[in-house]
Amino acid sequence: MSAPIVAVDGNDDRDFESSELGTKDYWDKVYDRELETFEDIGDVGEIWFGEDSQNRVARWLEKSAISPETSVLDLGCGNGAMLIELRNNGFTNLTGIDYSSGAIQLAKKVAEADGFKDIVFEVGDLTAEDSIGNCPCFSRKYGVCLDKGTYDAISLMPTSCTEARVSYLRIVKTVMVDDGIFILTSCNWTKEQLLEFFGKDFRLEANIPTPSFQFGGKQGNTVTTLVLKKS
Ligand SMILES: C[S@@+](CC[C@H](N)C(=O)[O-])C[C@H]1O[C@@H](n2cnc3c(N)ncnc32)[C@H](O)[C@@H]1O
Repeated sequence: MSAPIVAVDGNDDRDFESSELGTKDYWDKVYDRELETFEDIGDVGEIWFGEDSQNRVARWLEKSAISPETSVLDLGCGNGAMLIELRNNGFTNLTGIDYSSGAIQLAKKVAEADGFKDIVFEVGDLTAEDSIGNCPCFSRKYGVCLDKGTYDAISLMPTSCTEARVSYLRIVKTVMVDDGIFILTSCNWTKEQLLEFFGKDFRLEANIPTPSFQFGGKQGNTVTTLVLKKS
């Protein structure tokens, strides 16, 4: 029998160590640097899990019957590259949030340089209890929520990680329409662990295939991308 993902007594159920990637200080420094690099040489910075991973999400949305006018929220959008990819694919109602104001500045500049002034970027913290009342982006409802690496970053928080994950879940549920689609890409959690945490509120719609590797005779995936439907 597996241990509960959210231990009621606050016990930590992670099978990996916390790290500086779970701190805002780390991301603020990353985006200050990436903003400077973008201004100097036009390099947009890191796309987490690579462009292929971004393309897989975009392809899935394109192939599904989701209207291009559907409101899409990218949770922890970083440089905004995922939303720019969707804008290039015809999606028109796009919002990105990130708790690092440097990320939001960078995303705005990258989108503007690509000629997309209509993508909304706002600062918002997915783990702060008061975010829903305080951030305009969390007072709207979205048909699609995307997360590529943000739940992973939150899961690496050195302190209050379980509480932060519970707040994240509450915010995601609140901002999504009924039957909304949540596409989550993670390298820290397995499909089973993600379903254990999110399965009470979401049902599995699809598991987007990701490249797999073989090690010690066992087949495994380094990255998991799940399409979940709010239930
Ligand atoms: C691994 S990066 C992924 C960035 C982007 N989604 C991508 O795929 O390139 C994690 C992102 O989550 C953001 N983040 C981490 N914790 C957050 C929180 N509590 N609220 C909002 N954004 C957060 C970080 O600032 C960073 O941009």
